[in-house]
Amino acid sequence: MKLSMRMKLLILLAAEFAFLVSGIISSGSETQTLMSFSENDVVSLQPQMVNLTLIQGADSKGAVCLDGTLPGYHLDRGFESGANSWLIHLEGGGWCNTIRNCVYRKNTRRGSSKYMENQIPFTGILSNKAEENPDFFNWNRVKLRYCDGASFSGDSENEAAGLQFRGQKIWLAAMEELMSQGMQNAEQALLSGCSAGGLASILHCDEFQSLLPQSSKVKCLSDAGFFLDAIDVSGGRSLRNLFGGVVQLQEVQKNLPKSCLSQRDPTSCFFPQNMVEHVETPLFLLNAAYDVWQVQASLAPPTADPLGSWNDCKSNHANCSSSQIEFLQDFRNQMLDDVKDFSRPSQTGLFINSCFAHCQSERQETWFADDSPLLEDKPIAVAVGDWYFDREVVKAIDCPYPCDNSCHNLVFK
Ligand SMILES: *[C@@H]1O[C@H](CO)[C@@H](O)[C@H](O)[C@H]1NC(C)=O
Ligand SMILES: *[C@@H]1O[C@H](CO)[C@@H](O)[C@H](O)[C@H]1NC(C)=O
Repeated sequence: MKLSMRMKLLILLAAEFAFLVSGIISSGSETQTLMSFSENDVVSLQPQMVNLTLIQGADSKGAVCLDGTLPGYHLDRGFESGANSWLIHLEGGGWCNTIRNCVYRKNTRRGSSKYMENQIPFTGILSNKAEENPDFFNWNRVKLRYCDGASFSGDSENEAAGLQFRGQKIWLAAMEELMSQGMQNAEQALLSGCSAGGLASILHCDEFQSLLPQSSKVKCLSDAGFFLDAIDVSGGRSLRNLFGGVVQLQEVQKNLPKSCLSQRDPTSCFFPQNMVEHVETPLFLLNAAYDVWQVQASLAPPTADPLGSWNDCKSNHANCSSSQIEFLQDFRNQMLDDVKDFSRPSQTGLFINSCFAHCQSERQETWFADDSPLLEDKPIAVAVGDWYFDREVVKAIDCPYPCDNSCHNLVFK
């Protein structure tokens, strides 16, 4: 009984990741074959399941998913000392950058609340158990569902294709709804998010801070949201091409910081490396140095590696050749370079571990467990908590692969 629940959860996580990867690699047609999760961790406790709430009236504000349906969120109320504290976690799941792949997406849970699960497990940073989530377990915890395809930041439409690109309006309608649910009295708040949601938590960080009372303590956490404007294995810029399409199709430039747009083109301002210096609210970057999503979809997507010479390495880091590892070390060096200025002020936080991972705050095994990843002897949950509550300055950067034996590396079949 217990085991079958664990299996279900692993399958769910596998499907999540496969979607995330295939959803973006496939710019319309060719998708990577489904990958299966083969890490042997098990989840020790039955996760709490939390119901979906649709945001009634959001449509009258133009805040709708790609297919015009209402956006939604999952909320579990805080209790005791956490009753006036709010964690908002933005869901991830790639982007859509063409009419064609946005039309595909609008018939999935990433583009329509018709297909969203009615209940989802709250694990890791969303867990309601102190032994799984020591600092945030009794806060009001919210997962905001992602159904716009542009990191909650677009604002346009394509009538002919029946597509609404209303990420920014969804973000605002959700904030308004949560304010009326009690967030207007928040004493403490943390905006987090993973992957495309981790990028959104950077993009919306200062806005979030400005919506909350002056007296409240507000910070932001980006998990696996530090997408680099990197050169891929064919010498091109696969992710820049993709981001360029997202920004243009969904008119994201309307919602990018003016301070960045005055210096760079809109697509560049969608890349965190050019954005984080414009964020004034305290921000924490949690990212694997060998982010497997970026390896698979930005560095060596099928379009950049038509012969598939990276396939073995992409599915299991243990199978990378020494020249491939060298390429990945350059990627890590670029990431460290790009966070150098960001890292200087004491209010910012960093946890860059040398693992082959993606989204380490949502999964219990990577957030806080007996064998979860460590840097400077701290699990991720403790590093984030120490930073949020100003117990310590946290700027944790790992030594290069393969020195870290606390990783939970993802392996795909
Ligand atoms: C969640 O939804 C289920 C039906 O899907 C319902 O039985 C249950 O009471 C709901 N839980 C809460 C806390 O509203
Ligand atoms: C990949 O690595 C695993 C583990 O080291 C090994 O068992 C497997 O044979 C390797 N596969 C290839 C194609 O090299």
